[in-house]
Amino acid sequence: MADIAIAQLSEWKGVRGKIAFSEPMSTYTSLKVGGPADLYFAPVDAEDLAEILTLCQKRGIEWLPFGGGCNLLVTGKGIRGAVIHLKHLILSGASGGVLDALRQWELFPGEEIRLRLSAALALPRLLNLALERGWGGVEFLAGIPGTVGGAVAMNAGTRLGEFGDVVESVEILAVEGRFIHLPAEDLFFSYRHCELPAGSAVISAEISLYAHPDPREMRAKTAEYMQYRRESQPLSKPNCGSVFKNPPGYKAGALIEECGLKGQRIGDAQISDLHGNFIVNLGEAKSEDVLALIELAKGVVCRELKIELEEEVRIVGEK
Ligand code: EPU
Repeated sequence: MADIAIAQLSEWKGVRGKIAFSEPMSTYTSLKVGGPADLYFAPVDAEDLAEILTLCQKRGIEWLPFGGGCNLLVTGKGIRGAVIHLKHLILSGASGGVLDALRQWELFPGEEIRLRLSAALALPRLLNLALERGWGGVEFLAGIPGTVGGAVAMNAGTRLGEFGDVVESVEILAVEGRFIHLPAEDLFFSYRHCELPAGSAVISAEISLYAHPDPREMRAKTAEYMQYRRESQPLSKPNCGSVFKNPPGYKAGALIEECGLKGQRIGDAQISDLHGNFIVNLGEAKSEDVLALIELAKGVVCRELKIELEEEVRIVGEK
């Protein structure tokens, strides 16, 4: 596959963003594991992305949109086809608002606080922006890594709220290369899930926030919540966020703890001894080690507690 692409390298000349072959995905995932993608593209804007998709379609190359890589587990064999990394995507098209210097967010004039965000905008940056300006509505993002695109696709959230609560609409690039504007109602946001058309990539999202009546209190509460997360989750080690969804009525971390699995290690992958629903990379962990730990936790919890755990982390790549 990569050979075909290299042979046709001249075709990719029009692409402005980074192109690479056999690119190790461990570089781009927060867990720091994952085999190579045959092709890797990091388009700079929607036009560049459209160009790449047209070429992929012409060559029959499958593609996978890739955001912050924070809730993703790439298998050791890696990804056949192309990974389209949206981390450099800037907003394109004049929408009449005020764009920030990096063209990653745009504020529309008016009484309501309405923003258009690039899919590449980092969630911590969005949170900081809101805290600085006294805009309420995204405090739940405290401590969540990743990007706006990923937050839409996974309906990222905590028990304080989720991204679908603030989204008004999204712009996506559908698999056939068409840009489509979808209102939030069409996305059917639910727990860590939304109904994006298969194979599509989120390009931008419009969100609504509100003027918080007490920004100082908002900042203090958010700082407190960040502290709670730092103390209860192993955020200083490479991880992929919550590994499992919380089964209805239960907490996955507590179930794993009850089964005595905290601290279990396979290779350099370990079920965190701080939080049972996190797997951390102690150094040289391989995807296979992480996958084996996932299977171990599912098996033990099912056998001992008769409860099925379902992955929240998205597993991608050749099995
Ligand atoms: N608990 C244990 N043992 C553990 C871990 C947790 O007993 O090892 C119990 C504790 O009693 C704790 C309770 O479970 O009070 C809940 O734990 P926590 O507050 O950490 O929340 P969570 O349900 O495990 C969810 C999200 C996290 C988010 C936190 C905090 C899911 C699957 N996860 O975790 O989201 O950070 O709430 O709001 O909904 C993510 O999605 O990637 C993520 C990190």
